[in-house]
This record gives sequence, structure tokens and C-alpha cells, in this order.
Amino acid sequence: MRFDILTLFPGMFAPLEESILKRAQQAGTISIGLHNIRDWATDRHRTADDAPYGGGAGMVMKAAPLAAAIRAVVEEAAPPVILLSPDGEPFTQALASELAQQPWLVLVCGHYEGLDERVRESLISREISIGDYVLTGGELAAMVVVDAVARLVPGVIDGESIAEESHSDGLLEYPHYTRPAVWEGRAVPAILTSGHHGEVAKWRRRERLRRTLVRRPDMLRRAREQGLLDKHDLA
Ligand code: ADE
Repeated sequence: MRFDILTLFPGMFAPLEESILKRAQQAGTISIGLHNIRDWATDRHRTADDAPYGGGAGMVMKAAPLAAAIRAVVEEAAPPVILLSPDGEPFTQALASELAQQPWLVLVCGHYEGLDERVRESLISREISIGDYVLTGGELAAMVVVDAVARLVPGVIDGESIAEESHSDGLLEYPHYTRPAVWEGRAVPAILTSGHHGEVAKWRRRERLRRTLVRRPDMLRRAREQGLLDKHDLA
């Protein structure tokens, strides 16, 4: 899968060169292109922002450099062009799964007070917010989206861990333990060392339900409404 990121601050994306995303890029499972919007500014000072018409605080990203950057990256193709913005649709695991079906995403990081509305109208196909709070720019949000989407691309991580993790099927995860069997007086639940795989599976399911009920009753309600729970879960 291919990601292209348009930003005024390409230096903010160093974290994508670590860990799983680094390995996935080296393996060619994903590729991430970084593009500095300022490279498409045509004046001597490479100006990418200007004061808002109508007055007011802050600066607005200019239409021409941003539009030229998007068009240069997209060329004749039509990948989704996604603006990261606090005004966008909420980012969820379901949206991450949907985006992971695409072969190519173009992510545009907004900055300053926003961008010229006319670029939104003519070139942005979708807007995504990672939460109801305001960041200094779309860069961290773009990294969140790349990370959550990339790990769903086949081959990036082991598929088993995706199937049983928080949010993948409407429930939170069960607790995990590794050696030693007793740590600071706390023992691992006996069932996990019993060797009874069927009982372990039942225990994990129960723990997922318990944890979701206590921490996220809203999620449990939704899982029930969507028919994601079976009769054993409800007993
Ligand atoms: N840019 C600024 N705040 C943001 C948010 N919450 N989500 C996505 N992009 C943003």
C-alpha cells in the first residue's frame, strides 16, 4: 500500500522510520512518500500561507502551492485525498479497516488556521479528525492514520493479533501475562498455565466482556445491538 503525505513540516515524520513501519517499508509492503508543500510555492520567499480575507487571527494556507502539490502527487490518478482536520469525520477502527482496502492514500496536513476553502472544495475528497481536540497541525493525526491503517495491510503484522485485539470486533482485549509465573507476589491466573486450550479461550472471552463492561459500557451496548455477542456471552 502506498501513502503520500503533503506537509509543511516533513521533519515531523521521523517516527515513521522506526519499528514495524520501518520494517514494512524495507520489505516493500508499504511505501510512504513525504512532500514539502513549500516546494510548490513560486515566489522568492516560498510563501505557503497568508492573512485571512475578512481579518482575524492566524494565517491560512494558500490555495496555489497546496493545489499544485496535490496535483503533482496525484497526477492523472484518483486516489482518495484526505485532509486531516478537527472538522473531519471521527477516525475509528472501522474507518481504518475501510481505508486499508485502498491501494493508495494521499494525506494532506492542515496548518495554521486552516486552508483556503477553495482547495477543500476542489481537491479534498474526505476529511478525518482523530479526536475532539485541536492539534497544532495535521502531522500527528496523519501519523496516527498511517500507523492504524498500515498495520492492517496484509504482511505488516501477524494476522492473529489483529483478530483478537481491542476494537477489532467491538470488545476490548483480555489481559496478557508472560514469565515469571509469580511477580512481586502476584501470580498468573492458574487457567493460563493449565494447558486446557478450550478453558483458556473461554476465560479470555469472559475477561474481554468483563473489561468492556467496566471500562466501555457504550461499546458493549453497541456490540450487543450489532449482534456481535452470542448466547454464552449474554449468559
Ligand atoms: N488537526 C488539528 N487537530 C486535528 C485533529 N483533532 N484531527 C485531525 N487533524 C487535526
